[in-house]
Amino acid sequence: MNRISQGRATLGGKLSAVLVAAGSSVGLGNIWRFPYVVGENGGGAFLAIYVCCVALLGLPIMLAEFTVGRASHRNAVGAFRALDRRWSFLGYNGVLTAFLILGFYFVVAGWTAEYLVHSLTGDLAHLSSADEYATVFDEFIRSPWRPILYTGLFVLATHAVIAMGVQQGIERSAKLLMPLLLGVLVVLAIHSLLMPGSGEGLRFLFRPDFSKVTPSTILVALGQAFFSLSIGLGTMVTYASYFKPDTNLRHTALHVTLLDTAVALLAGIVIFPAVFSVGIEPSSGPSLVFITLPSIFNGMPWSMVWSSVFFLLLVIAALTSTISLHEVVTVYLHEEWHLSRRRAAWTTTLATLLLGALASLSLGVLGGCTIFGENLFDSLDFLTANILLPVGGFFTCIFVGWKLDRRILRAQLTNDEALRFRIYGVLSLLLRYFCPILLLLVFLDNLGVF
Ligand code: PHE
Repeated sequence: MNRISQGRATLGGKLSAVLVAAGSSVGLGNIWRFPYVVGENGGGAFLAIYVCCVALLGLPIMLAEFTVGRASHRNAVGAFRALDRRWSFLGYNGVLTAFLILGFYFVVAGWTAEYLVHSLTGDLAHLSSADEYATVFDEFIRSPWRPILYTGLFVLATHAVIAMGVQQGIERSAKLLMPLLLGVLVVLAIHSLLMPGSGEGLRFLFRPDFSKVTPSTILVALGQAFFSLSIGLGTMVTYASYFKPDTNLRHTALHVTLLDTAVALLAGIVIFPAVFSVGIEPSSGPSLVFITLPSIFNGMPWSMVWSSVFFLLLVIAALTSTISLHEVVTVYLHEEWHLSRRRAAWTTTLATLLLGALASLSLGVLGGCTIFGENLFDSLDFLTANILLPVGGFFTCIFVGWKLDRRILRAQLTNDEALRFRIYGVLSLLLRYFCPILLLLVFLDNLGVF
């Protein structure tokens, strides 16, 4: 055993591996981003493509990342370097992506915290129409200091958990959250289904109209799948480096993927019937959930309780994801730059706070500063999900499919032959040919090559 892996934490039992990985996957990506990209990209056809991306690309790539992480017991950069020196660039791509995602993710997480406070004080219940909710939301995100305040609180909360260490902080919060979140989503979904006109929302979500599909639809679906599953940037490499030798990687990946997709679908079933019933444009973008949800709660008995519980869960779901992103950067600085864990965590915290503040201001006073015509917030969202994550996924496939010693892959997937793995051949085909070729085609298609 090498020096680094000796002092490293490991995660508890079987359930913990699933829970922490699901804690990373399930977050704002499912409840905030998924509905808004489905809404912007025409509904059913997008959903069908999304589900295919999750099954055919998401699962194999998650397994590949688990393999790299557990085989090396290192941070994202160290992991690729330990297996093959020339591939450490893939780790750097991951650390950079995690940092950039934190830049806008913390801002949205801050919004959920603000909505939690407004739910608790009863302020959210006063408004009556979706238009009013839209105006309130708009005013809020444009304010120069309120969103930054909440973003800052969120950054500090993440820092506190990271400072407590992997085991206690991450494991505990994930264990509590998942069952509760699923339960509340199911109740809200039933409520939405009973709203007048819910059929139109369901048709939008589930009836595919493939005439609406463009090259960019496929890229966005792909990006959303990567974002939602937390793959393509070394989060799963980092987490798997804490897994125990007897953790079943296949079951973990399968359970995380199923849970993540179930939460996204449930969020869709909550949001879209309400979108049509209340008369909101499905393509209203990042504000969609923040306008729709309060309108849903308003129509419910004990609306204050529902909206408080929901936003509390959303805050925790976001927190378990920001923790995983923060951890990627922190453990990299700790192990590669030899900073103490405390210093590494503070460096990450302060740098992301700065980026988050700029991203937040870019929705208001700094709106004039644009990158290729988009403000900083939207640029970070687009660049990470639609470019950096798929690029990371592409090279991960090439690395694990072609470069990595096959015995390492096999040993990780079968726990040194203690488990049987019948679909090894299929996985290998997917990683070597199917996934990279598909990713390449989608990219070329979007560049207008075809
Ligand atoms: N998957 C998380 C979510 O859906 C976001 C995330 C992306 C977390 C990438 C870690 C890495 O909210």
